[in-house]
Amino acid sequence: MDHGCHFMELAMACERTFIAIKPDGVQRGLVADILGRFERKGFKLVGLKLLTPSRALAEQHYGVHRERPFFAGLVAFITSGPVVAMVWEGEGVIASARVLIGATKPLEAAPGTIRGDLAVDIGRNVVHGSDGPDTAQFEIGLWFQPEELSSWQPADQAWRSEA
Ligand code: RTP
Ligand code: MG
Repeated sequence: MDHGCHFMELAMACERTFIAIKPDGVQRGLVADILGRFERKGFKLVGLKLLTPSRALAEQHYGVHRERPFFAGLVAFITSGPVVAMVWEGEGVIASARVLIGATKPLEAAPGTIRGDLAVDIGRNVVHGSDGPDTAQFEIGLWFQPEELSSWQPADQAWRSEA
């Protein structure tokens, strides 16, 4: 698969993560705000689509939580309407995106984070982000075909990073 790694780039700069705006974020009209935070931060958008996830997709995506009491409700919620699925690329993007998103419980999420600014309920926390490199690779492959991802260089790259 094309991981967007070019010979001039450091391996870290090729890091990619999967981010999803959940149905509550779409229904509440928060797509531009949430997407814009990653864009303004300086990460590179390499994949983007709107879809209502199938039950099979949702159950695979949240498979790690299969035995948890909230699993059925979580799958019902995530399949209840359109989701904005995205892949973002950049140095340290996996961990940084989790910081931008904030704590799982929105009431405990710091102001300035997406959940801290925009949500109150753990079951309506507006956004998902991969929690590590293995999860990111799995989730990108689950939600996107390789040809749906674009490798590209921002024209102002020199103003974003050295080297
Ligand atoms: P996400 O996977 O959606 O990015 O969220 P996360 O890593 O911050 O949290 P995680 O532990 O992976 O939980 C996945 C989603 O399940 C819902 N949840 N509900 N009622 C509960 O106790 C509970 N715990 C988790 C949340 O919507 C959480 O985002
Ligand atoms: Mg999670």
